[in-house]
Amino acid sequence: MSETSLPFHMKFEPGKLRKEEWERSIKDPEGYWDEKARALDWFKTWDKVLDESNKPFYKWFVGGVLNASYNCLDRHIKTDKKNKVAYIWEGEDGQVKTITYYQLYREVNKLAKVLQDLGVRRGDRIALYLPMIPELPIAMLAAARLGAPHVVVFSGFSAEALADRINNAGAKILVTADGSLRRGKVIELKKIADAALEKSPSVEKVLVVKYAGNNISMKEGRDLFYSDAINGVPANTYVKPEPTNSSDPLFLLYTSGTTGKPKGVEHGTGGYLVWVYWTLKWAFDVNDTDIWWCTADIGWITGHSYVVYAPLMLGLTSFMYDGAPDAPQPDRWWDMVERHGVTIIYTSPTAIRMFMKFGDDWVLRHDVSTLRALGTVGEPINPEAWLWYYRTLGKEKLPIIDTWWQTETGGFMISPTLGIELVPLKPGSATFPLPGILSEVLDDNGDPAPDGQRGYLVIKTPWPGMLQTLWQDPERYKTVYFSRFEGTYYTSDYAIRDPDGYIWFLGRADEVLKVAGHRIGTVEIESALVSHPSIAEAAVIGKADEIKGDVPVAFVVLRGNYMPSDALKAEVSKHIRNTVGPIAVPADIMFVNKLPKTRSGKIMRRLLKAVVGGASLGDISTLEDGASVEEVKKALEEMGGRIG
Ligand code: PRX
Repeated sequence: MSETSLPFHMKFEPGKLRKEEWERSIKDPEGYWDEKARALDWFKTWDKVLDESNKPFYKWFVGGVLNASYNCLDRHIKTDKKNKVAYIWEGEDGQVKTITYYQLYREVNKLAKVLQDLGVRRGDRIALYLPMIPELPIAMLAAARLGAPHVVVFSGFSAEALADRINNAGAKILVTADGSLRRGKVIELKKIADAALEKSPSVEKVLVVKYAGNNISMKEGRDLFYSDAINGVPANTYVKPEPTNSSDPLFLLYTSGTTGKPKGVEHGTGGYLVWVYWTLKWAFDVNDTDIWWCTADIGWITGHSYVVYAPLMLGLTSFMYDGAPDAPQPDRWWDMVERHGVTIIYTSPTAIRMFMKFGDDWVLRHDVSTLRALGTVGEPINPEAWLWYYRTLGKEKLPIIDTWWQTETGGFMISPTLGIELVPLKPGSATFPLPGILSEVLDDNGDPAPDGQRGYLVIKTPWPGMLQTLWQDPERYKTVYFSRFEGTYYTSDYAIRDPDGYIWFLGRADEVLKVAGHRIGTVEIESALVSHPSIAEAAVIGKADEIKGDVPVAFVVLRGNYMPSDALKAEVSKHIRNTVGPIAVPADIMFVNKLPKTRSGKIMRRLLKAVVGGASLGDISTLEDGASVEEVKKALEEMGGRIG
């Protein structure tokens, strides 16, 4: 099928309204955002829309005062949204819970009181290590109500990863659960949290949600059950929402970069909330009758922005699921779409490819006609997956909204917009930058890359949703994002702009992998590998995977007294699972005598990639900048002895 045969292709004069809106935002950003920010409730409006006096530490809506929890809850309970369902939640075992805006408001107030009584004050950090259960958004909003930044740690991370994040953030409180459930199996979250807490002295109190029902140990004086704490405060408790400044941090969220140490991305309050509010409205044209389902785990930015803050501010009903996508069988999602009448599903290319592999029948046996739009995020979507999504779920009628963005950007950056005007879609392209976003594709020298040529995507001017800094590391913020091309936000993504101006993403330009859409640094995995007693040196690269996009593959050099074996491979895999988490476990571990390095000591990653990918090693001199043919040959020989 050619892209021009898409039925919605000629719906509008392509891109006119969209272009006008974008031009207005770029010509007068302060005027534009002054108008847009008024969609939120402010206790006090700003004195200045954008303060650029300390670049690249931009400040949005300076002098503005607001509260995130107020904008998600209090504003609705004064309206006819009061008794509207905020979340329909379903567990893997089929149990369903609904929670209205008013009920959510009550729960958040009670938990805010509990936290306050535990000593939480404005500016204190609160770590959350929870499954996809309603208590997670409740805890985020309770923290936000007190002006205490939350630090959500994805529940698939290990004790060590949890401890690192708690320690870097200096969190005072941890909210966790007894366990989480996957395919009926219990993952012992409290046990993992206990191990982390041995190394995390800043945590004074731990609240534990009873969810999986597994046996846990509770430390006296430190641990208390969430339900006991909540039952101890009156049902009509009201906690005044803290009047936070626009640039007070709303949350820290750790993400992977090119070094072993995850980065604490700090998002502010005003700019971030304005950005996620508008981007969700623009991209999906959400309305009061929608049942919105963003399938991301709240432990990642997608969940923060589009399971919690944007849909709640917009007063939407969201669907939330905690469980495996194929439990009890591969039509679980479509069964839920049908039963709950989901109108928009927003998911990842990895999920789409997995369902594609399960086969169309699993979809076709369900009535999914309530769906009106389909979204994707997290990694480049290949045209085959795009077309499958479009045909099988979308019945060749529904638009595919491919949203490109990052933890650091707060919300969507490049995406089609149902809410402004739907531009003609091209399978695999995220289309155009949203209003407020001035992007460009640059070549190695920082000059604009010609259309059709691969370059690096940069964002040339600040936007409200951008990160404010890296937690307690402003220097790293400047180096990581604003030094590759002086003064311009560097995304670390390869992109191409085609002759029609459409942007196509080609994956990361750094040593970061997207494994099933999850971001993980190769260096992080390498550090974990060398912390195993058997491993002297390690190099990790990404290998293309049909479903997951990338999977990590490790090359390791063993210490003298260790011999390669399958048992050792299994042990090393387990070690990675325990020190980082399941997403970091290499798909393969190769034992080698030596790692291929250039004379200057740089690991020849491209050579390793070529070995794994089975690429022709014909012209090996181009495999690594600065390495001679002789060097590469020698490196290959040295490795060769023990590959496999
Ligand atoms: O490489 C891009 C890829 O995901 C990276 C950001 O990952 P993370 O911070 O975990 O946020 C993921 C969810 C926003 C980007 O640098 N990426 C994200 N969305 C897309 C994408 N690549 C291509 N197309 C997308 N739609």
